[in-house]
Amino acid sequence: MALSTAKTNAGESLHCSTFASRYVRTALPRFKIPEQSIPKEAAYQIINDELMLDGNPRLNLASFVTTWMEPECDKLIQASINKNYVDMDEYPVTTELQNRCVNMIAHLFNAPIGDDETAVGVGTVGSSEAIMLAGLAFKRKWQNKMKAAGKPYDKPNIVTGANVQVCWEKFARYFEVELKEVKLREGYYVMDPEKAAEMVDENTICVAAILGSTLNGEFEDVKMLNDLLAAKNAETGWDTPIHVDAASGGFIAPFIYPELEWDFRLPLVKSINVSGHKYGLVYAGVGWVIWRSKEDLPDELIFHINYLGADQPTFTLNFSKGSSQIIAQYYQLIRLGFEGYKDVMQNCRDNATVLREGIEKMGYFDVVSKDSGVPLVAFSLKDTSKYTVFEVAESLRRFGWIVPAYTMPADAEHVAVMRVVIREDFSRSLAERLIADLGKTMADMDAHAGKKAGHDHPAKKSVHEIEKEVTTFWKRLVAKKRSSMVC
Ligand SMILES: Cc1ncc(COP(=O)(O)O)c(C=O)c1O
Repeated sequence: MALSTAKTNAGESLHCSTFASRYVRTALPRFKIPEQSIPKEAAYQIINDELMLDGNPRLNLASFVTTWMEPECDKLIQASINKNYVDMDEYPVTTELQNRCVNMIAHLFNAPIGDDETAVGVGTVGSSEAIMLAGLAFKRKWQNKMKAAGKPYDKPNIVTGANVQVCWEKFARYFEVELKEVKLREGYYVMDPEKAAEMVDENTICVAAILGSTLNGEFEDVKMLNDLLAAKNAETGWDTPIHVDAASGGFIAPFIYPELEWDFRLPLVKSINVSGHKYGLVYAGVGWVIWRSKEDLPDELIFHINYLGADQPTFTLNFSKGSSQIIAQYYQLIRLGFEGYKDVMQNCRDNATVLREGIEKMGYFDVVSKDSGVPLVAFSLKDTSKYTVFEVAESLRRFGWIVPAYTMPADAEHVAVMRVVIREDFSRSLAERLIADLGKTMADMDAHAGKKAGHDHPAKKSVHEIEKEVTTFWKRLVAKKRSSMVC
């Protein structure tokens, strides 16, 4: 949800589109509900025409979120669009499908589930909600422990890398937990496990590690973190746990890096979130959080409702939500199976390699993403004296490509990068096309800079100047009504 910041001007009207003028001749108010109804064809035409100004989702290389599914799944989504997921007694099959998904994902993450046990987890709107729930469980468990020991329990903290996605900052602020961030440095853009372990104290509710950093796709070293924390716990008598934010990596690592130990195989990992709508290959609106065991989810956070029929335990932030995405997730899990997911992920990795090699060959960029990790290519300009990545990104939009540019967080703010996320629908031919268009863009940038060069030699940009450029860049994009975000 974007909080609306539009200034309402009662007099401002939205003009009808050309084709809708067949049905209506009066302009619609932009910010007030119209007095009169209009024909359905007109409503459709007006909205459809205005939406044409959005970017093309398939060319939106900013987002990890799925932009293509099979038509069979589109049909299932359409057929269940009118089912409220929370009506579990009325839609028991949908509830059963969510439970199957939770169990499949828990097994995929190697949760220690006995033969007669079911997994502990829940479907959410995305990883953000999943992270709020996991964070609340850690906070409550820590508070209970501190209360029982007669110790103060009003200053909880959480240790993360400065590269965390904004949802962690939201969790910290909304639920009053101090966020202790391990700073980055040039050339090292993920949480350093040694520094993280050093930052842990008795009030640390958990350390959050990321499997697939939003900024450069890199997997953090969860195994090393587990070992360092295990040693610290043994020394201090604390029992600081780990949460893994596997928003992107959770549906990648099990298939193409099966040997990598990052999940419930590590004893201190107590909960994991994953976005179904990223590499789970479902359209926006589904995430998952899985707990290692019942003991890791305090019972008092679970609400029991019975006014929809039978007793229903719920642990979510929202009450109502759609069923379609849960059904779509189940479709993908049974449609693709382990081998199908593996094929998709391998393909994405191969396409990322083609793109990385093409970008490296141009000679303009340093690639800051890794070969293993989320299939994406993040790259910075070698020479920032003539133009910035923000200008390159803007220029690239001429060809229809939406590629975000952003500065790294503290203490690497002076590094600005562009990032191309490779999703299933980004084919090899698109990768080749993008390389060609980026090449043309760079030639143009050089020609333009050459013309300016006779007149001035811009100095290396300061952090403040880069920040200002970022703001101007985004403002300009928003003004153009195009969607593009680092998400
Ligand atoms: C590492 C990480 N965590 C959490 C999120 C938030 O995920 P969602 O968009 O599913 O709420 C993202 C989104 O990109 C992410 O990259």
